[in-house]
Amino acid sequence: MEGRIVILGVFVADTAYRAERQPRMGETILGKGFALGPGGKGSNQAVAAAMAGGRVHFITRLGRDTFADMARATWARAGVRPEVIEDPDSYTGAAYIFIEHATGNNAIIIAPGAAGNMSVADIEAQAGLIAGADIFVTQLEQPVAAAHRAVEIARDGGARTILNPAPATRIPDEMIARCDFVTPNESEAEGITGIAVASLDDAERAAQAFLDRGAGAAIITLGANGALYRDRARSVHVPAFRAGPVVETTGAGDAFNGAFAAALARGADPVQAVRFGCAAAAISVTRPGTAPSMPGLSEIEALLAGG
Ligand code: RIB
Repeated sequence: MEGRIVILGVFVADTAYRAERQPRMGETILGKGFALGPGGKGSNQAVAAAMAGGRVHFITRLGRDTFADMARATWARAGVRPEVIEDPDSYTGAAYIFIEHATGNNAIIIAPGAAGNMSVADIEAQAGLIAGADIFVTQLEQPVAAAHRAVEIARDGGARTILNPAPATRIPDEMIARCDFVTPNESEAEGITGIAVASLDDAERAAQAFLDRGAGAAIITLGANGALYRDRARSVHVPAFRAGPVVETTGAGDAFNGAFAAALARGADPVQAVRFGCAAAAISVTRPGTAPSMPGLSEIEALLAGG
């Protein structure tokens, strides 16, 4: 039986600008392209998990505007069940995404709008849903206090908890101690632990720093180098898959986290779930956009099977 996945997070509209480089302060440059589409780490992860075969509920706050309509249409297409608090006094957020034309790498500014007002009271109002989760996932684009309370409720209810600590910020020890899996990328791992991650040895040390703070396991995602999984019994490097030329890396971490959650919900061993997440991420970077780049279950399975 497929476990139930509950994800707390943010939806924003991604406004993605492709250019040779970022402008300097006071400078205007010509870009090479623009795209508007659905984004936000939590929403992207919900879409990725649902596309990968998961039964997904997504908790957030939206304004009442055209970006909110985009959110609802995105979730309906992917099969995500929305659990939305409407906030007519605020707005649905947006992200500025710079995509470096030569590499597909990105830099992001996010204004979370209504979702930035998510409160502990909002979370407690959804306590029944969160406590009934098999897998609970959150990130840090909404206030840490809301994410922390949700992790507590999920863990007390018996869920396995995944924290994608993005963007990096100060996280209470008590919150990390209630996370079964913490999944930073290299720069988030450095921002939180102070250990610069430039090699597998560095990733091992950063992962150990999360274990020392009480996490059950740490998974450091390493872009083109795959991911390092470490718990108290084992440390495993999962190499990256290659599914085609890289077009855009934005959302690759979300593809990983959503697919990882879906695999765990189906009963996969965590290292197998990391492989599944890496395969999903490898496919997502061959396509433009974030939520629209998430692969379906059969595509991930085909890549894992070597086809
Ligand atoms: O992880 C990628 C996401 O981060 C983008 O969709 C953007 O909205 C930001 O939240």
